[in-house]
Amino acid sequence: ESAKKGGFRFYMEKEIYEQFDILKETILGRNTEDGIKFDEVDKSFFNGINNIIISACGTSYHAGLVGKYLIERNAKIRVDVEVASELRYRNPLLTKDTLFIVISQSGETADTLETLKMAKEAGLKTLALCNVDNSSIVRVADKTILLRAGIEKGVASTKAFATQVMTLWMLSNYLGDINEYEAINSAIEATKVDTALHEKIKRLSKRYLHGHGFFFIGRDIFFPLALEGALKLKEISYIHAEGYPAGEMKHGPIALADPELFVVALLSKNILYEKTKSNIEELVARDATVLTISSEFIEMTDDFVKIKNSNHPMIEFFEMMVITQLLALEVAVRMGNDVDMPRNLAKSVTVE
Ligand code: G6P
Repeated sequence: ESAKKGGFRFYMEKEIYEQFDILKETILGRNTEDGIKFDEVDKSFFNGINNIIISACGTSYHAGLVGKYLIERNAKIRVDVEVASELRYRNPLLTKDTLFIVISQSGETADTLETLKMAKEAGLKTLALCNVDNSSIVRVADKTILLRAGIEKGVASTKAFATQVMTLWMLSNYLGDINEYEAINSAIEATKVDTALHEKIKRLSKRYLHGHGFFFIGRDIFFPLALEGALKLKEISYIHAEGYPAGEMKHGPIALADPELFVVALLSKNILYEKTKSNIEELVARDATVLTISSEFIEMTDDFVKIKNSNHPMIEFFEMMVITQLLALEVAVRMGNDVDMPRNLAKSVTVE
């Protein structure tokens, strides 16, 4: 058993460390110096597409939200992202110029599968981003791009999320005829776990155990990363956590600020730095306990985790992603929880 975990305490920990190698698989033959190539889908498949709907659940839904920012920005195609259990029952407007994308690690999530069938019946083109070949979702979708994350054992999804975001980023390049070859490679480098950094997170996790809850805040693509960071923490530590757009804190949640409110601030140097920084200042002024993750050192917060200086937000994104995963892991370990088998959760939800 311990051999299977490759010397790590938990599968989740192993999977966090694996992301660096896994992502290289995800981009293999796809991220080329001449741009993105997908063997699985011909460019003509996307002809006549004016809109995209992304449907997914849980962590895959958060990846979808990142995809919306990337596809709208890079490919100039409007994207709506929907929680599958909602989309399924609200009789949505489905028009034939819409590409329907489902994102699923397992390929078996009941709600996601049902929305896919619904879209197919309505005559939409369908594309699955999925980790399991020959799964139910792969069999129904017109086309599939496999995530190549390998088997994910931890119930809390880590490496599958990384591959989903990476695939959506490549897709946004593909659809927008954009070439970010170097940035994609550098983003993968950024997921390599530095053991000194991991030790630091282990140490500082001690401060974040007995508050009345967590907020993860960020703007732009760092907002869905905040949602995912909060979900990771909830899933394995059983501490209440919420992801919030940094600029929205003043519209209610800041009322909760006191020293027992823990905030993880995702401060990008490249996107809305000053705005996010002033949101952090507002929380500090109200005595919240704040951990900032950024390449730009800011003195005012209780804790600071430094990421490398880079000029591309997606490189920052992937490095911050690993840090939030490690933080969730270390808080949960300190709480004495079985990280790989969190209570009440299943790896794949195949019934409603
Ligand atoms: C379950 C898992 C989550 C996962 C979600 C969607 O709730 O515990 O980790 O994100 O299902 O799963 P899928 O396989 O469709 O990505």
